[in-house]
Amino acid sequence: MKPIKVGLLGIGTVGAGTFEVLARNQEEIRRRAGRGIEITMVADLDTDRANRIVGGRAQVVSDARAVIANPDIDIVIELIGGYGIAKQLVLEAIAAGKHVVTANKALLAVHGSEIFTAARAKGVTVAFEAAVAGGVPIIKALREGLTANRIEWIAGIINGTTNFILSEMRDKGLDFAAALKDAQRLGYAEADPTFDIEGVDAAHKVTLMSAIAFGTPVQFDKAHIEGITQLAAQDIKYAEQLGYRIKLLGITKRTPQGIELRVHPTLVPARRLIANVEGAMNAVVVNGDAVGTTLHYGKGAGSEPTASAVIADLVDITRLHTADPEHRVPFLAFHPDAMSDLRVLPMSEVVTSYYLRLRVADEAGVLARVATLMADAGISIDAVLQREADEIGGEGSTQTDLIILTHDTREGTLDAALTKVQALSSVLAPIVRLRKEELA
Ligand code: HSE
Repeated sequence: MKPIKVGLLGIGTVGAGTFEVLARNQEEIRRRAGRGIEITMVADLDTDRANRIVGGRAQVVSDARAVIANPDIDIVIELIGGYGIAKQLVLEAIAAGKHVVTANKALLAVHGSEIFTAARAKGVTVAFEAAVAGGVPIIKALREGLTANRIEWIAGIINGTTNFILSEMRDKGLDFAAALKDAQRLGYAEADPTFDIEGVDAAHKVTLMSAIAFGTPVQFDKAHIEGITQLAAQDIKYAEQLGYRIKLLGITKRTPQGIELRVHPTLVPARRLIANVEGAMNAVVVNGDAVGTTLHYGKGAGSEPTASAVIADLVDITRLHTADPEHRVPFLAFHPDAMSDLRVLPMSEVVTSYYLRLRVADEAGVLARVATLMADAGISIDAVLQREADEIGGEGSTQTDLIILTHDTREGTLDAALTKVQALSSVLAPIVRLRKEELA
């Protein structure tokens, strides 16, 4: 059978990896896919660089639309990124009847519904394994490997930059700004790391996993997003003393009221495997009713790890190319006419447990007053840690830190109780509040 022809839009880090791995492993891939897969056209504005990578093995053009217009091309890989020109090109490729492979989580999280609808209408596939957790085949696992299960929850370290920064903060006792500088110096963080450190990149990825897990539309606008920029080194230290690590988790859960969809720094018991995922690595824990808990771990970024995911999608599409579109694996795991309208819960309705740090006057009755306000709200306390005042403010200090771990409570209930606690004259600074997940 003649090889399937692929056009590549954007030959940066991941594009170059895709080109190289496909060339290097072409025989193995042909044996798996049942026919050859060849990148025959590459579009990139920097044609000199593209030509150096391609070395005459494919036609290089500066105009992406020339790739889309080529009737010989069966699959278009979009590795440009962002919501702008990438969105137009993806929609144009679909309109031209091409299957699309993309690593663009931002595009799919925000415009996924429009793109998937267009693809269904045209009978083509949009595949995006590389968009979530790089080389970790979590999309395939959720959509196919775990398809027997009713997924209950997913919790993932899905941003390597922030996990690297958190590891540095913990290992070296650095504050956030110093750890970010280290990450930039070592090439783990972009010059503009906003999407990573503010949790937006992780929110894009957990939004896609949530849709696939629960058969709901892609709803990035409903995600609650908190990054790690406000995280203090002392909270990492106190969490450690209580047996927890702090990780930036993307979390999505099924509850009887709806779906939780959130990204925030989270205390995780130190004995959990995911709490020990360090540096720039990614890991996703999935809980399904039949399988229990599974952990998916690996490199979440980088040239060849991400290329591994892009090429897996190429092979999938190649295998499915001749199948009747109605019987292909649905992009979002569930068939379009079987999508659920489960709502995404506002944070006030989310139920979780909390770490609270209160800077208080070191005087009689403070703990009792705080505990009374919590008890009045029906919030159960799990653990309390109080440091010696001298440890906090030096010898003779009259201030101390009071650390409280709660049991599960509604966030709206906690917010109301904390407003009252914050108003106590003995509470001397804004209360630090972090969420905690046992992931049991
Ligand atoms: N910037 C991402 C990360 C990689 O740090 O994990 C691409 O999604």
